[in-house]
This record gives sequence, structure tokens and C-alpha cells, in this order.
Amino acid sequence: MNIKKPFVVGTGIMGSGVGQLCAQQGYEVTLVDISDEIIEKAKEKVKAGLNRRVEKGKITQEDMEAILSRMNWTTDMDPARECDFVIEAIIERLDVKKEVFKALDSICSPETILATNTTALSVSEIASATSRPDKVIGMHFFNPAVIMKLVEIIRGEETSEETIAATKKFAEDLGKVPVTTAKEAPAGIVSRVLAGLLNEAAIVYADGIASPEDIDEAMKLGAGLPMGPLALIDMIGLDIHLAKMETLYAKLKDERYKPPEIIKKMISEGKLGKKAGEGFYKY
Ligand code: NAI
Repeated sequence: MNIKKPFVVGTGIMGSGVGQLCAQQGYEVTLVDISDEIIEKAKEKVKAGLNRRVEKGKITQEDMEAILSRMNWTTDMDPARECDFVIEAIIERLDVKKEVFKALDSICSPETILATNTTALSVSEIASATSRPDKVIGMHFFNPAVIMKLVEIIRGEETSEETIAATKKFAEDLGKVPVTTAKEAPAGIVSRVLAGLLNEAAIVYADGIASPEDIDEAMKLGAGLPMGPLALIDMIGLDIHLAKMETLYAKLKDERYKPPEIIKKMISEGKLGKKAGEGFYKY
């Protein structure tokens, strides 16, 4: 099965990145969000990112215009009717995702694959809102979606082999390297392994052992990480990180995944990370 028309739900950090990636790879893509204001902001961000690539000589002005012309933006879910692959990248909340999947299930053709970019929610639980659990799958991109090579393909209990094969092929056609989980488990591979590391870095900071700069510098130079763990939490978003830890803790009932108090405190102060202008660092 060759995917021809992807549809992306949510134009935040991940949705706009995945949409841009599709357009860069030559797909005509439609992106939906809940308000024109949010869409305008997302469009501006995509444009600014592409402009930087033009300035660096990575793409031409014509390439940029062609990419933008392949991105269709809307607040209406109805165009999903015309699409053969949906990637959902909205807020990490099971109730909201289930509502969206229920709506997509009634709008989309029965052949359409419905993928979720969820970090840690259960693909099977999301799929239970539809009449096609065999065609629901986790397709987990990494931030920034345009650049990061990996896509984790996460199966739900009823995801069919056909859906897995089509999603793998689509990931490859998007220029990514897919890795498929052998069974359903919360948070796939990377997020689960990283969860413990990111938590520990936040606790080292909260305990006053070192500054964010020193923690990140130490982990880059001493552990060979390309980016410090606290800068990474800022990039992911503290709210998204907390949602992931809460899900892991609830599902695995393991103290290693207990969300640190410092993350909750910073969220209550509006320090959500890069997207809010402040997290462990100021932007
Ligand atoms: P975000 O908060 O930047 O964007 C979410 C977008 O979804 C917002 O623009 C919001 O208006 C929109 N939205 C909410 N409800 C909607 C609805 N009913 N219909 C259409 N649009 C709706 O969130 P972000 O960071 O892009 O995360 C999205 C998903 O991707 C989450 O499930 C998250 O766990 C996952 N993810 C996030 C990563 C990250 O580094 N931020 C990395 C990989 C996965």
C-alpha cells in the first residue's frame, strides 16, 4: 500500500513538523487544528524554519514555495475524508485523543490508517474508540520531526500486520528509519529509557547539586550525549514530560517513573520549556 494523501491532526510542535516533513518529501498534506489563530502561528513557524534553510543554502526559494504550497491548513476535519493516512499529534490526553479518533473513524474511508504520535498512551485504548482497531497504530516521531531519523512503530493489541507494513513503508518514504515494537508497552523504547535519565537530571537540579548549565555540560562531555537532559526536557515541554511520567508510573507501578515534584512546581509557574519562553533555561 502506497500512501498518497496524509492528514495531520494538531499543528503544535509535532504536528507542524510532521506536516512539513510530508510536504518536503513531496506529499500533498492537510493539517487541522482547532482555531485560525493557532494555525497562523504554526504557519509562521514553518515559514521561519524554511526561510532559515534557504538562508543557509540548504534549499532554494522555489523549493520553499513548493513545500508551502503542498501544505493545506484547515480548522475542518472533513477533508480527512479524502486522505489515506492520518497522523494525530494533539494534546497527550486519552479522553481527547479518543474523541478525535471516534470522529476520524466516522469521517475517513474504511481503508484509512489512523496513526497516533502519542508518547505514552495506549494505542489499544485509543483504538477502542474506533470500529477499525486493526488499522490503528502508534507512529512516534521525534522532535524536531523534520530532522530526527527515528520513527517508532508501536502496535496495539489488534493492529494488523498489513497496517504495520504500510506504516513502516510510509516512514521509509518520509526518509525515516522505522523500529517496530514486538508488543504493546507504554512509551515505546526511547521515551521509556530516557524517562529515568531525564527524571534523575531534574532531581539533581532540585537537590541543588548543580546548575542546569553544569548538569547539561556534564552529561554532554561525560556521557557523550548530543544534548543535555534539562535542555531536552525544555525542548520536549515540561507538561509533555510530566504526562509521560504519570502514564508510565500509573501503568508500570514502579518508583523509577515517579514524576519529580520540581517538574510539577515549574509547570504551575508557567515554566513549560522552550515553547513558553522559560523552563530550566530562559529563551
Ligand atoms: P503541542 O501542545 O505543541 O500541540 C498540540 C496541538 O494540538 C495544539 O496546536 C492544539 O491546539 C491541537 N489540538 C488539541 N486538540 C485538538 C483537536 N481536537 N483537533 C485538532 N487539534 C487539536 O503538543 P506536541 O508537543 O506537538 O505533542 C503532540 C503529541 O505528540 C502528544 O501526544 C505528545 O505526547 C507527542 N509527542 C511530543 C513530542 C515532543 O517532543 N513535544 C515528541 C514525540 C511525541
